This record gives sequence, C-alpha cells and structure tokens, in this order.
Amino acid sequence: MNDKKNLLVLAGDGIGAEVMAEVWRLIDWLDRRRGISFAVSEGLVGGVSIDAHGVPITDATMAQALAADAVLLGAVGGPKWETLPFEVRPERGLLRLRKDLELFANLRPAVVFDALVDASPLKAEIIRGLDIMIVRELTGGVYFGQPRGIETLADGSRRGVNTQVYTTEEIRRIARVAFDLARKRQNRVCSAEKANVMESGVLWREEVQWVHDNEYPDIDLSHMYADNCAMQLVRNPGQFDVIVTDNLFGDILSDEAAMLTGSLGMLPSASLGAADVSGRRRALYEPVHGSAPDIAGKGIANPLAVLLSFGMCLRYSFDLKAEADLLDRAVNGVLDGGLRTADIMQQGKARISTGVMGEAIIREMDKLS
Ligand code: NAI
Ligand code: MG
Repeated sequence: MNDKKNLLVLAGDGIGAEVMAEVWRLIDWLDRRRGISFAVSEGLVGGVSIDAHGVPITDATMAQALAADAVLLGAVGGPKWETLPFEVRPERGLLRLRKDLELFANLRPAVVFDALVDASPLKAEIIRGLDIMIVRELTGGVYFGQPRGIETLADGSRRGVNTQVYTTEEIRRIARVAFDLARKRQNRVCSAEKANVMESGVLWREEVQWVHDNEYPDIDLSHMYADNCAMQLVRNPGQFDVIVTDNLFGDILSDEAAMLTGSLGMLPSASLGAADVSGRRRALYEPVHGSAPDIAGKGIANPLAVLLSFGMCLRYSFDLKAEADLLDRAVNGVLDGGLRTADIMQQGKARISTGVMGEAIIREMDKLS
C-alpha cells in the first residue's frame, strides 16, 4: 500500500487559485471522513512564479514535481505577462513540467452529464450519453520539433519555422496508452492524422497500425484524417470511444470535444508518463481551461473541472477508485439538484459562486457516503 501520498499543488494564475481552494476542501474531507491523508506541498508556476522569481517555474519547484507522486495544477497565463519574450512566458512553466516529467500522454475525457445535456450547442439526441476519451501525444510533434524559430532573410523579410517530428517509439508508446484505455472502455480506437499531406502522418498511421496488429489485434482500430475527425465530432460524436492523435491535432480536437459538453469549466485532464520500476507513473492533473482573466477575481469560476481533475488523480495515481467514483456521483447529484455556476447556467436553475459549488459537492459527498 502507498502510505505517503505526495501531492504537489500548483494553483498558478487567474482563476487557478480560486478553483483550487475547492480542492483543499475535498482533501480535508478525505482526511476527516475517510482517513486518507495526503502530504501536500505547494509551489508557484506561471505568472505568479515570474513575479516572485523571474522564471515561470524554478528548478526547486521542478525538483518537487519530480519527487511528487502527482502534481495538481490550476492554470497559468494572463494579459499581465503576454508581452514577455516567449521563452519566459507563464506557459513555458507548464511546457517544462510536461517535458521534464516526460508526460507524453494527455488524457482528455469529454463526458456529457445528463443534467447538462441542454448546455451543449448540439442537439440533445446527438450528445446524450457522450463519453469520449481523447489521447493526445504531448511531448513531441510541432510544439517541440527542430528546427524552429523566426529568422530574418537576406532580403529583410522574415521566416517563421516549426517542424513536425515523430519517431517510431514516440508513436508506439502513445498508441499503447490508447489501446490499453480502449480495453477498459468500448474496445474502439480512432487514430487521427493527416497522412494525405504529411510524411509524419504516414509514419503515424503505419506505426499505430503496427502496434495494433502485433499487440492489440482485439481492438477495433480505424484511421481518420484529422480534419474529417473534427467534422465527425460535431456530426456524430457518438461513433467515438478513444481517439488517439498527435500534439497539435490533439490540442484542437480536444478543445472541440470540450465544447460538445457545453462548458470548459467542466473538463478535467490527466497527463501520464512512463511507469518506473516500482510501477509509479509520473502524472500531472489539470483542468482543460486556462486562467480565465475575464472572470478572475469574481468568485464565479466553475471549480468542477479542477475537482474532476483531482478525481482522475485519485483514480490513476492513488488507486482510490471508490473515492473517485463517489466524487463523480457527487458532481452528478449536485447538477441534478439544479445548482449551476454562471458558465453552465440554465433557465430555472440556481446561479451559485465557486465556493457554494465546492460546499455543495462536499455536502453531497457526506450524503452519499
Ligand atoms: P480560458 O480557458 O482561460 O478561457 C476561455 C473562456 O472560458 C473564458 O470566457 C473564460 O471565462 C471561460 N472559462 C474558462 N474556465 C472557466 C471556469 N472554470 N469557469 C467558468 N468559465 C470558465 O482560455 P483563454 O481565454 O484562451 O486564455 C486565457 C489565459 O489562459 C491565456 O493567458 C492562456 O494562455 C491561458 N491558458 C492556460 C492554459 C493552462 O494553464 N493549461 C490553457 C489555456 C489557456
Ligand atoms: Mg488548447
């Protein structure tokens, strides 16, 4: 058994700290009611770290992250730091975390809660019961490929360059994560790339097929061009179970899937790395949304995305399935009860603040346990 559960909390910028406060309530509840205690440390990331230390994440905080069993992050970024050079922007803190922790697999579930079927921009009959898992490759591709940069040409004009790069191993290991997940779900994987116009897409398709044929022949695998996948997500999202795709397409497709569910404020994510010899998998959990500067400081942000991210942390890093299931049921119960933060507001429902939503979840957990 894992006695000491080391969790590093990095609330970050904007609404990050506001929504994270609700996670603290839950950590306290788990301790009080279930005797599950975490050794929690806190650190700075993003703009708050730039303000305090001049860098988006310090080496000391990185060392803490490497030592932790899991990292829970709020959000980074905001207008205050947007004029800084790219290399020291808040987002670099997050990119460094992903890179140094070698978090190559980003899991983004898009689940439609029954009570929120009407919050989706799509018709209820298209969206009801939706449960998609998008597996996005996170440490390769065009966000990291070399060469990159902006260069000035001889004639004085400029050229911006980014390079899409994937190796056999990078593709195979993300494919394995997707196939493993599919086995616990509906046994279906759709791999999305642009093999019609990109060589890296051709390799992606061949290697995913190779992993399937050699290791997961039982899984129903299909290939789709990423632009078609974007269309299909809106036309008939129910056809998908697990979607596996690269860093760039995954960024876009997962945001699109996010909006199928109605609100960014509801969406958790997990980023997983390779397992070490003891079986411990490096992991970072964070809401899909950003720091929401337009509503920061108002106390109206939806804390459910970060709470559900913590739920994924309970499930995947600490094997606390019962508690993760309990949290999912509490979220369902509170939504069924008609409570809504502004972002998921519906006619006839009660508009509540971040804190009241957090309290309601705790009350529901009490009721259910
Ligand atoms: P955003 O996700 O912060 O906000 C988009 C829209 O969704 C806004 O209208 C916002 O009010 C709303 N929203 C987001 N989360 C919400 C919540 N929990 N409850 C209620 N409403 C919510 O994305 P945006 O505006 O593109 O970026 C704002 C800043 O956040 C930028 O600096 C960006 O770089 C950063 N960002 C950081 C991310 C991260 O930390 N992982 C991810 C995306 C953006
Ligand atoms: Mg995005």
